[in-house]
Amino acid sequence: MSDISQIKGINARQIKLLQENGVSTAEALAMSPINVVSDIDGLGEKSAKKLIWNARNALGMTDFTKASEIDENTEYFTTGSSELNKILGGGFQTGKLTEVYGPFKSGKTNLAHTISVTVQLPKERGGIEGSAAYIDTENTFSKEKIKRIAKRFGLNQDDVLSKIYHARIYSSDHQSQMIMKAETLCKTRNVRLIVLDSLMALLRNEYVGIGSLAKRQGVLNNMIHGLSRVAETYNCAVLLTNQVATKMVGMFAADDAIGGNIVAHGCHFRVMFKTKGFSSNNSLKRRAVIVDAPDLPPEECEFYITNAGIADTDKVDISPQEVSEFEFEIEKLYEENDENTPFTDIPLTNVKGIGKGTAENLIANGISSIEDLISVDPNELSAKISGISSNMVLEWQKSAKILIKS
Ligand SMILES: Nc1ncnc2c1ncn2[C@@H]1O[C@H](COP(=O)(O)OP(=O)(O)OP(=O)(O)O)[C@@H](O)[C@H]1O
Ligand SMILES: [Mg+2]
Repeated sequence: MSDISQIKGINARQIKLLQENGVSTAEALAMSPINVVSDIDGLGEKSAKKLIWNARNALGMTDFTKASEIDENTEYFTTGSSELNKILGGGFQTGKLTEVYGPFKSGKTNLAHTISVTVQLPKERGGIEGSAAYIDTENTFSKEKIKRIAKRFGLNQDDVLSKIYHARIYSSDHQSQMIMKAETLCKTRNVRLIVLDSLMALLRNEYVGIGSLAKRQGVLNNMIHGLSRVAETYNCAVLLTNQVATKMVGMFAADDAIGGNIVAHGCHFRVMFKTKGFSSNNSLKRRAVIVDAPDLPPEECEFYITNAGIADTDKVDISPQEVSEFEFEIEKLYEENDENTPFTDIPLTNVKGIGKGTAENLIANGISSIEDLISVDPNELSAKISGISSNMVLEWQKSAKILIKS
């Protein structure tokens, strides 16, 4: 049973209120915590409790089940790297939350793009024939990258793009709102993967200082639990990317994910991406480490970032000529541009392809405005910052020029 109207004692007004708040199936209601449902304006604590209990009764959730009868319906799809699939226990898993954290340019956004495509592959080719919802807080989503990945996997580029539902996010409450909206997409558009890239960027900016920590953790808790419930209800995979902060552990400095225990305990799988340990500055080789997983050994592997996503070798190369029919184009769907903004005030993160980490790195290297970025010599900048190629700088400059013209 998933039709919410079948729940004993529910009326049309309550159905509407619940649906408006992202709870649109009996399963979703049954798995919701009482305090979240009773906070819905106009519903009330007593009704919330009654409806949740009735939903749980109707779904048989108020009985214990013999372990032999537990329905394990986990599905796996490829990450683009067979080594990474192996250490993840067979691929990216449905029904669970996977957190991938790592320093800037470690490959988080590349993984997000790759699996938004591979989730769509037919089952016999390592996919689950699903669509993806992409919640983008850093403005780093790239249609061009998706097209290259689609080409690599032999999929029709337009079909692939039409099965990725993208939302550009501007604030943490917008983020919470779109997480709830993603639930509706699971129900109506066969969304089997939700990407949140990245989980903490906006929260980190909005809740500054120790005084707002409790509030921030409350918001974060609701997001994580909301996503966890959606993952389970719709057997949907969830990728949360996260940044790291360097902490001192005794005498040693170590990178750790931000967000504290709520994130650490709320995610089923925690994977760390590393850039360190490779001698060549421009190497696109990365390391993935399973940090915490209920049923996986703490293994590590290496993978590569290519221009067509995550792979086992750096030989996957879709040459620019092959995709030249696709002109560079800036996302308009969720962009809002104030015509009066002088371009020196436009943050670097508005440039396509520049995430928060990259922007911080650019600033540290003297590129603090769009104007600086446009006038810099790409070769010079590439030589100065490891992992940034002159071609990337050229792409950023192209995007920055479009930005100041629009
Ligand atoms: N077309 C491409 N071909 C090869 N490598 C690329 C290409 N585009 C990006 N890269 C590499 O990918 C890396 C950036 O990866 P990604 O954006 O996935 O990092 P991230 O972990 O999301 O970083 P951030 O914390 O800044 O968001 C850079 O090292 C860059 O050199
Ligand atoms: Mg990123």
